[in-house]
Amino acid sequence: MRMVDLITKKRDGHELTKEEIDFIINGYTKGDIPDYQMATMLMAIYFNSMSKEEISALTNAMINSGETIDLSQIEGVKVDKHSTGGVGDKITLIVAPLVASLGIPVAKMSGRGLGHTGGTIDKLESIQGFNVELTKEQFINQVNTHKIALVGQSGNLVPADKKLYALRDITGTVNSIPLIASSIMSKKIAMGADAIVLDVKTGNGAFMKTLEDSKALAQEMVDIGKSLNRKTIAVITDMNQPLGYEVGNANEIKEVIQILKGEYIEDLVEISLAIAENMVLLSKMYEGENIKEKLKLQIENGQALNKFREFIKIQGGNENIVDNVNLLPQAKYHFEIKSLNSGYINKLEAEKIGHVAMLLGAGRKKKEDNIDHSAGVTLKKKVGDYVKENEVLAILHCNFEIHENIKNELLSAYSFTNKPVNKNPYVYEIIS
Ligand code: URA
Repeated sequence: MRMVDLITKKRDGHELTKEEIDFIINGYTKGDIPDYQMATMLMAIYFNSMSKEEISALTNAMINSGETIDLSQIEGVKVDKHSTGGVGDKITLIVAPLVASLGIPVAKMSGRGLGHTGGTIDKLESIQGFNVELTKEQFINQVNTHKIALVGQSGNLVPADKKLYALRDITGTVNSIPLIASSIMSKKIAMGADAIVLDVKTGNGAFMKTLEDSKALAQEMVDIGKSLNRKTIAVITDMNQPLGYEVGNANEIKEVIQILKGEYIEDLVEISLAIAENMVLLSKMYEGENIKEKLKLQIENGQALNKFREFIKIQGGNENIVDNVNLLPQAKYHFEIKSLNSGYINKLEAEKIGHVAMLLGAGRKKKEDNIDHSAGVTLKKKVGDYVKENEVLAILHCNFEIHENIKNELLSAYSFTNKPVNKNPYVYEIIS
C-alpha cells in the first residue's frame, strides 16, 4: 500500500477500507508516514468527510495505537464525561465530586488547555501540591476507596491522537466531525469507560458553531459508542458566551467552590445538573428516583463540597483552599475594563474572552508554553444585562501591565442593543 494512492482515493471522494485506515494510523504513529502526507490526508477528510464505517474503523485504529486501561477492578458502572471544549468550562470539576458523592465511581482522564479553550488539568494544578499523575494501581485504588480520581492524559494512551491533534491544530483541520468524533471517543474507550456522557458545545466559542453541526457531531459520537457497546448520551449545551463569570485557572476553581457551596449561577448550575443527571442515569444506581432532586440535595447538604475537599486532599493538594480561596494563586494586577456604551448586551463572544485570558497568561499559544495560574478574566456583565457607559464590564487579572490591544479585544467581545435581549437556552437537546 502507498500513502499517496490513499490520499488520491480520499481526495476523489472514495471510501477507505478498514485495512487502509489501519495502515494510515499505524504508519503515522510509528513515524513511517511523514507529517506532510498525513496533513494532506486530514484535509481530504475535512472536505470529503467519512462514512460511518470509516469513522468506526478510524476510532478503532486510534484505540489500538497504544495502551488501553482495564477498569474492571473498579466496582460499579464507570461513567465518564467529556466536553468538546469551551471557555470558562469548569463543569467537570462540579459534576465529578457531585456524582461521586452519590457513591458512583468517577474515573476520569482530562486534558490541558490549548488556544482559547481551558483544560481541567491546568485548573487543578492551580491548587498547591495537586498531583495529576497517578499510577494505574493508585488510580484504581483511589476510585474504589474514594469514588473519584482525575489524571492527565497518559503518554501511552491513544498516541495516534496526540500526534494527529497537534498536526490538526496547525493545519486548519480541527473542525471536522469525523476527526473530532474519533479523537474524543477513542480516548474515552481506551480509558475503560463503561458509559459516556458527552457535553457537546454549540455556538461562537465552540468548535461547532451551528446547532446543526453540533447535532451531527453528537449523533456521530453516540453511534460510535453504540457500535462499541458503550452506552453514550450527548447533551448539547450553549457556548455562545463563557460559562459562569470566571475564566482562567485559579479563578475557575474559586467559582467551582461557590457552586458547590450552593451559589446559584444559572448557566453553570443548569448545565452541571443536566450532565450529572445523565451520568447518574447511566450508572443505573438510582433507578426510579428523582435524580435531579437528589443531586440538588447533595449540594444543599454539603456532601458534594465534602467530596471535592476529600478529592483535593487525596491527590496531594491543599484542601484548605475550599475554606479560604485566597490560598489560590493571586495575580498582582487587577484592571477594570469599563464600558464605552450603554445598552443591553446581546453578544459576548466566548472565543475572544478565551483569547484575552490566554494573552494574560492563563492559556498557551503552543503546547510547550508555561501558564500563569493566577491570570484570568472576571466577567461582571453577561448577555441580557443592561450596562451604563463607564460601568465595569470585566476585570483582567495578570502579572504585567496590560497593553491597549488586550483591553480593546475584551471590549470588542461585547455587542450592545437598546432593546431587552432574550437569552439562549443552556441545554438544547439530548441525543442518546
Ligand atoms: N477534543 C478532543 O479531544 N479532540 C478533538 O478533536 C476536539 C476536542
